[in-house]
Parts: sequence; C-alpha cells; structure tokens
Amino acid sequence: MSTPRIDEDEVEQLPPDIAKKARALLLSLVRPHLAMAIFLLVIVVLTALFLVIGPVFIADALDNGVPKAVDGDPGPLIRAVAAFVGSTIASAVLAFASTRLVGITAQKVVYRLRSRLFTHIQRLDLGYHERSTSGRLVSRQTSDMESVQQFLTYSLFDTALALFEMTFIAVTLIVLDVPLALVVFLGFIPLFFITKSAHTSQRNAYRRTRTSIAKVIVHFVETMGGIRAVQAYRRQPDRRGTLKDEDTLYRDANTDALRGVAWFAGWTRLVGNVTQTVIIIVGAWLVIEDWTQIGVLAAFILYLRRFYGPLDELVQAFNLYQSASAALEKMAAVLDTDPEVVEPARPKSLPAHSAHRSSGTASAKDTAAQDASTNSAGQSANSSTANGRSIDLNHVRFSYGDGPDVLPRFDLRIPAGEIVALVGATGAGKSTLAKLVTRFYDPSEGRVTIDEVDLRDLDDAQLRSSVVMVTQESFLFAGTIADNIRIGNPDADDDDVLAAATAVGLDPYIRNLPDGYDTDVKKRGGRLSSGQRQLVSFARVFLANPDIVVLDEATAHLDIPSERLVQKALATVLEGRTAIIIAHRLSTVEIADRVLVMDSGRIIEDGTPDELISGAGKFAQLHKAWRDSLV
Ligand SMILES: Nc1ncnc2c1ncn2[C@@H]1O[C@H](COP(=O)(O)OP(=O)(O)OP(=O)(O)O)[C@@H](O)[C@H]1O
Ligand SMILES: [Mg+2]
Repeated sequence: MSTPRIDEDEVEQLPPDIAKKARALLLSLVRPHLAMAIFLLVIVVLTALFLVIGPVFIADALDNGVPKAVDGDPGPLIRAVAAFVGSTIASAVLAFASTRLVGITAQKVVYRLRSRLFTHIQRLDLGYHERSTSGRLVSRQTSDMESVQQFLTYSLFDTALALFEMTFIAVTLIVLDVPLALVVFLGFIPLFFITKSAHTSQRNAYRRTRTSIAKVIVHFVETMGGIRAVQAYRRQPDRRGTLKDEDTLYRDANTDALRGVAWFAGWTRLVGNVTQTVIIIVGAWLVIEDWTQIGVLAAFILYLRRFYGPLDELVQAFNLYQSASAALEKMAAVLDTDPEVVEPARPKSLPAHSAHRSSGTASAKDTAAQDASTNSAGQSANSSTANGRSIDLNHVRFSYGDGPDVLPRFDLRIPAGEIVALVGATGAGKSTLAKLVTRFYDPSEGRVTIDEVDLRDLDDAQLRSSVVMVTQESFLFAGTIADNIRIGNPDADDDDVLAAATAVGLDPYIRNLPDGYDTDVKKRGGRLSSGQRQLVSFARVFLANPDIVVLDEATAHLDIPSERLVQKALATVLEGRTAIIIAHRLSTVEIADRVLVMDSGRIIEDGTPDELISGAGKFAQLHKAWRDSLV
C-alpha cells in the first residue's frame, strides 16, 4: 500500500475573478511607491530614446557626414559620431541608475507583500488552518514569493523598456521611410497571433507549475512534520514515491512552459529574419531606384536587430511574468480569504471583578490550594489576583462547516471559580467544546458567554487575556526556556518567570540544564521531556494570569511521579480560576469540583466526582476500571 496522494481538494480552487484580484493586489503594492514608479518611467522613456536615437546618428554620419568629409568638411561627421557616443554613454548611466532603483523598490514591495501575507495568515481563524495544509501556505511564502520577486526585480523594468523601445523604433521607422516601415509592420501580423496563442497556453502551463510546486512543498513539509511516524513504520519508500510523482508533475509543467517559450522564441526569430531579408531586398531595390538613401537602409537594418532584440527579452520577461502572475493569483486568493472569527466593531468590556474567589467552591480545590502553597512562595502573589468568571453556553449548536452536528444542542453553566473535568469517549466533542469556549470557533447557533458577555462582543486583547487554552502539544518555540515561559506574558521580568517556574515545580529541572533559564530549547542539552513541556505550558498560564483556563490534557503517559508533579502544578495554576480540563487521566478528576461526562456531543452525567463515583453511571464504571488497573 502506498502513502495516499494529496487529494483533489488540495488543488486550490481559485475564484473566477482571481486575475483581476491579482492585478489589484499588485497595484496596491506599487501604489506607495508611485513617485518612484513615475520617476522610473521617465528613466525608461529616456533610456529607450537614447537607445533608439543611436542609429539615426549613424544614418546621418553615412548620408551627410561621409560625403561632406570627402569634400573636406569633417565637422558633420565628427558631430554625428560624438552624438552617437554621447547617446551610448547616457544610456549606460541610465541603465545603472534604473537597475539600482528598480532593485531597491522591488525589494521594498516584496518585503511588504511578505509581511502582509504573514500577518494575514496569522489572522485567519483556526478553522482555516485546520482545513488547509501548512505546506501550501509555506509555498505561498517561499516559491511563490520568489517568483514574484524575480519578476519585479528582473523583468518588469525590462518589459517596459522593450515596449517603449519598440514603440520609438516604430515611430522612427515611419519618419525615416514610410514604404519600408510598412514592410516591417507587415511582420507584426504573424507576431500578434503568435503572442496571443503563446499567452493562453503559457498561462495554463505556469499555473500548473505553481500548483505542482505547492504539492511538492506540501508533501515535503508533511513528511518532515511526520518524520517520526515515517521512520517508525518505515514509510520512506512510499513517501519518496509520492514525492517523485509530484516532482514529475512539476517537471512536466515546467517542460511544457519552456516548450512554449522555445516555440515563441523560434517563431519570433523566424519572423524577424524573414522581415530583415525582405527589408534588404526591398530596400536595395528602393536605393537602386533612388527612392531612398543607403544610410536609411543601414539604419533600418540596425533597427530591425534592435527591434527583435527586445522581442527576445520580452519573451524572457513574459516567461517570468506568467510565473509571477500565477503566483500572485495564489497569494491574492489567500489574502482574499476573510477570517470567519472576527473581532466586533464595537467591543464590550467584561465587568470588573467581584469577590468571586471568596465565594469559592468545593473542598477539592481548597486542598489543591494548600498543596500549592506548600509548593512555593512564588505563586501566592500571583494567585491573589486570580479571579474566575462564569461560563455559559446557551442553546449552542455546532458543526464544522457543512458537516454533521458535533454539538446538537448544548446548554451548560459553569459558575465562576469552578474546576470542571470533562471526560468522554474519543470523538465525543470535548475538544470542540473547548474551542468554542475559547472562541477559536463561533457556534453555528446560540451563544457562548463569560460573565454574561457574548464572546463575539469581546475584542481580541480582552478575550485572550481572560481565556487561555492550553493545548495538548505544549509547543516550544526556538529560543530559551525563559523566552518560552514568557510567551504567557511578554512583559514579565526574570523574577516573574522564576516565580512562575517555581510555582509549577519546573524550577529544579531548569537549574539542571546547561545554561539554566537561558538554555536554548531547540539545541542539544535543552530538550525537555513531555512532562516538562507540560510544566512550561502551565508556567505560561501562570504568567498570563487568565480568569478562565481550558486545558486539553495530553494523553501522553507520564510515569507516576511525573503525573503527581503535573497534578500538583495543575492545582497551583488553576487556583482561583474557572477551569475546564479535558481529563484523559482520571487522577486529574480528583482536583475537580465537578465532572461532566460527554457522549456524542451531549452531557450524559453531571455531578461532583464523589457523586458520580458512587453512582452507577458510565463514570463510575470508568473509575472502577482505573482503580483496578492501579492495584
Ligand atoms: N476541524 C475539524 N473539522 C471537521 N470535523 C472535526 C474537526 N475537529 C473535530 N471534528 C469532528 O468532531 C467530532 C468531535 O471531535 P472532538 O475533537 O471534539 O472530539 P474529542 O471529544 O476531543 O475527542 P478526543 O478525546 O479523541 O480528543 C469528531 O467526530 C471529529 O471527527
Ligand atoms: Mg480532543
């Protein structure tokens, strides 16, 4: 059996008006540099003028300068040659200035695009990220960005220059000799059709290169992310096979695109050469008949070389343009996606804290608090500021997208300061409930409120400072342990970090690390065990000091001492707060005031741990099995 291929959903469906959106995006990026763009346009026009004017001086030198020099007056010839040299030098200076300025501006534009894309991707709701593969977003920021950068840096200016040069040459040809110019323009007719057909086929080929390179990156990112599973199950040959398939698609798309380029280049060259031959024949005849001068014919031949020279550049530029516009379309599609969870236009505030804590709850928590106070002195200052808030779910119904209802109809009230353990079979909807209470998703129907305020009415700052979700992964970012704890509150000083680590019992471990709190967690010697990583995430919560903590407990099996340690830390962290713990370990339930048993999106049991254990329900069975497993 081979690793499943990335399914068809992964091939992004771009909206039909995406080309327009990509253009609008490009325009919005260039707009802040409008003055520079106009300046560059002037440079382009001047450069083109100097390039085009050169052969005019040559024609003048041949037709006027040489005969006069033969007659003993070298002045006009010297002037014509000097003018030619001058125009060449001027165009060289302009080429330097333009390349430099284009480089600077293009980098600024791409920089802005990168940061805009990154900011937007971070703003998109969790639902978007759960639906899409991170590899695809990686390819937006890497290969697509590279393509846009190449186009802006290397070919936008050249394209403009080539177009102006061709226009000026066309005008000059008419001025020099109308019949000969008409012969040249006849060559435009096949050129027009060649360009038109190349445009369509190239666009499709380049779109395919963008999609297929994205697939290669998706596959790569996924393999690296799952490298443990890949190696554990020896799936390397399958992964390599799939990558080969994706790579083949990418190679073929590129080959097709380049075949188009070759075809285009060949045809334009042919048309150019045929036109030149015709011009030489017709021009020679006109000179013989004395209808035109030899200098004009020489200028025509020089111009034709110049004319088809830019055409070659245009082909190259066209190439990069196709690739960049396909990339820009993909980015425009990401930027065009609005987050589904949005901040309110007019946010409401949560009521000031009342004396929730003194009206505190059951005994289990008091025991926990005592436990915690023996743990360290560091936490007491913090916990005195902790206050819970009540949580209500009113008539909540929820489904992911158009999927089936995960929570069919849900009503739940959790008073301030209560610690609730949520248990239930896999797929019961526990994590979903957690994501609603923390507003990573909005309910499809009904309301989720804290202290009677709808979560949708809170601005992000208040929401995130009041409600913290501790996920199973306990993600560590590159940096030191202290930095990682400080994620909970970037303003915390070293003493706060130390107090938080001490409170959750992490301090002794950190002291054993090579550089203590300054140990780099991604370097050798700084790796933490999964239990220690959990403690880091508890220390973050401690620093963040939220009113409500929602904890999706890791299922990883800790040994008994580590489990004790984590339980104790948990009790400290949750003291005085409202908490929902998705409990995978029944020992966790012991610190809870209340247990909710969930099944298929419904609460089937609700009571204190003692009530449920002594009852005859599902929880009593689970608890008995767990007890038995301990002896
Ligand atoms: N992002 C998602 N998109 C679509 N369906 C989802 C998504 N997340 C979860 N589901 C579905 O919702 C249901 C409830 O999932 P949920 O993650 O809430 O279960 P859970 O109780 O946390 O399970 P576990 O104990 O295994 O973590 C499952 O049927 C699952 O397939
Ligand atoms: Mg879950």
